[in-house]
Amino acid sequence: MKYLNHNINFEEYNSADELSTPDHDLLVTARLATADAYAPYSNFKVGAAALLQNGTVLTGTNQENASYPVGICAERVLLSAVASQHKNIPVSTIAISYHNQDGVSSHPISPCGMCRQSLVEFESRFNEPIRLILGGMEGKVIIVPNATSLLPLAFQKSELEKSR
Ligand code: THU
Repeated sequence: MKYLNHNINFEEYNSADELSTPDHDLLVTARLATADAYAPYSNFKVGAAALLQNGTVLTGTNQENASYPVGICAERVLLSAVASQHKNIPVSTIAISYHNQDGVSSHPISPCGMCRQSLVEFESRFNEPIRLILGGMEGKVIIVPNATSLLPLAFQKSELEKSR
């Protein structure tokens, strides 16, 4: 028996002002996208913005439903839009922001487990890392270099190939 461990590396910035201009702009796009969220039940509005490798920027927002489990997170709305409209273009970076019903948020949130699984699928589909820029409407920002590092021991498509 041996003990193993899994570390994740990420960068932390005191505010969006410390980011490079492209990263800053993408986070601002995600912040602005929160206005398109449909979140009448949680009042927790999430906006996500993807920068594709060809320079295209798309956004996605959480879309809730009176039947609560039917609601979809911003990240998976975004990935579906990317996959449907630009199916052969890898995603370079995704910025994610959010705020409460007062329009306030002061720290980063990171994607839920289901969204991590979807992000991992996207990375393996294109064999390219997706950088994640996570920040609220203000406050600290973190940048994770790839989504797979957020889901250690992830279930991957290679398992299905092995079991054939
Ligand atoms: N939500 C997202 O859109 N992304 C996340 O990363 C976390 C949670 C949404 C789901 C639901 O509409 C609301 O935020 C509260 O959970």
